Amino acid sequence: MNYIHLEEINSTNSYLLAHPELEEGTVVYTMRQTAGRGQMGNTWESEADKNISFSVQLKPTWLAPKDQFLISQVVAHAVWYAILKPIGLQKVASPMVSIKWPNDIYVGDKKIAGILIENQLQGNKIAQCVVGIGINVNQEVWHMGAPNPTSLKLIGVETTPEKVMHDVTSTIKEWFNLAQYDHLRKDLIDDIRSMYNIILYRKDNLYPYQDAATGEVFMASIKEVDPQGPLVLLTDKGETRKYWFKEVKFIHPNGLTKE
Ligand code: BTN
Repeated sequence: MNYIHLEEINSTNSYLLAHPELEEGTVVYTMRQTAGRGQMGNTWESEADKNISFSVQLKPTWLAPKDQFLISQVVAHAVWYAILKPIGLQKVASPMVSIKWPNDIYVGDKKIAGILIENQLQGNKIAQCVVGIGINVNQEVWHMGAPNPTSLKLIGVETTPEKVMHDVTSTIKEWFNLAQYDHLRKDLIDDIRSMYNIILYRKDNLYPYQDAATGEVFMASIKEVDPQGPLVLLTDKGETRKYWFKEVKFIHPNGLTKE
């Protein structure tokens, strides 16, 4: 993988989007991202020299745009594993690490990493896919209203931002290299989809959710996430409901609604 270190940049995603000519596998990273972008136009706060912000260039022309949620699943799994690994190695007593649908990484009920994937389509192909990842490594205080953040440091893990990034990028690279091969792809995809469903935040038991359109609050358990991305909930009344991103809010244990 080709790593480009930038001393400071507004957004590593914006940098790669402006450089589609850079080869697949290029990683752009910085410890000083000044205007990080989050999902749905939100900002991503990252204190200088504490956290790492990086983006990976992918060109998955083998993947139909209708299946692009698979990229989210692979990347979320890679970040999940890179967070879990030092917790295990350092024997830190930590709450569970999980993926909050669609692709936030949580420790207990707190967010430790965020992912922003931006695709450029050409006809029926994904010509450029910029995978942006922000991981809270050593930050301890947030000033811009990030909802329920945490960091590796706050849960007692000692590591360097670069090490965490390398763990993430090497898993992503390995998976996308293997997926080039037609005869391996189906098994890889089946594995990642089932693994993603197993490590979901709130996978078991009933929790409160809010329908974003009607405001209705209801209790439900997660049945699964469909391959194309929607969350399938099973309500306490036995009704199955399917929601796309932003159509349903998770009610946080402290009573706040969360996207
Ligand atoms: C979110 O949870 O809202 C997504 C946050 C994504 C942040 C990363 S940091 C690297 C890359 N560059 C950006 O501007 N955003 C992503």
